[in-house]
Amino acid sequence: MSVPREVQVVGGVVHRPAKPWTTTIHSLLRHLLAAGLPVPEPLSLDGAVETVRLVPGDAGQDCWPHQLGLDGVASAGHLLRRVHEATRTWVPPADAVWAVPEEPAVSGSERVICHGDAQPANFAWSGGMAGGLFDWDSARPAPACSDVAYALEWLTPFEDDPQELARRGFADVPDRRGRVRAFLDGYGWQEPLDVVGAVVHRQQLTIDEVVHLGRAGHEPHASWVAQGWPARWRSKMVTTRRLARQVGDGQVSER
Ligand SMILES: Nc1ncnc2c1ncn2[C@@H]1O[C@H](COP(=O)(O)OP(=O)(O)O)[C@@H](O)[C@H]1O
Ligand SMILES: [Mg+2]
Repeated sequence: MSVPREVQVVGGVVHRPAKPWTTTIHSLLRHLLAAGLPVPEPLSLDGAVETVRLVPGDAGQDCWPHQLGLDGVASAGHLLRRVHEATRTWVPPADAVWAVPEEPAVSGSERVICHGDAQPANFAWSGGMAGGLFDWDSARPAPACSDVAYALEWLTPFEDDPQELARRGFADVPDRRGRVRAFLDGYGWQEPLDVVGAVVHRQQLTIDEVVHLGRAGHEPHASWVAQGWPARWRSKMVTTRRLARQVGDGQVSER
């Protein structure tokens, strides 16, 4: 993913390219802020650029040390749950626009507004705990398990390349089973969950969405598609299946 987004942080203000869905996202963010959630405050939208307030904490490439411990993993799950709960009382504008299609309902997981990109780099961390969630461009109505699976891809992690694991700060093989449990306990997940199946499904959806956005001419997706990344990302699903045994074959039963 070598195409940087034109996101600029100037002082305490983030300048981002505005998209057709930015008005909808600002409405959602205002609702979440009113509910006390640590998300960016929308400041302006002038057509080409949106500005939002910086959420304090370490983010982007500085996120990795904070998510090494089980407490950090659980804190991300807890924050994601709080966000999902607060979205239930939001009434989207009649002309709401989303970056990607709404996801269909699935049994055992209620529809909320999912963040859509809940990876460690999009949380703001402090002292090994997730204290904020930003980069809401991929939000969409979807079953809560969609965000849970996406976050688990990153926080388990379903990654076994030694160089990539070292880049994320793992000195040893991650305790993948313990990390899945910590995230789901932090979230308060109550239903049975086929973790591996859900993660693989979400990985395929991520690829489909990048192709969808790329074909519509949005960046950085168009460049990712031109560079052939979606085909390479298919190997991530093979990795997830390979690691199934390390998470107890991925079946988390009801508690
Ligand atoms: N609201 C925010 N609060 C804190 N940091 C932010 C915020 N928005 C952006 N950043 C910083 O800018 C980087 C890029 O912004 P982001 O919105 O995640 O765009 P993208 O991931 O598409 O490049 C983030 O990794 C983070 O370091
Ligand atoms: Mg981001």
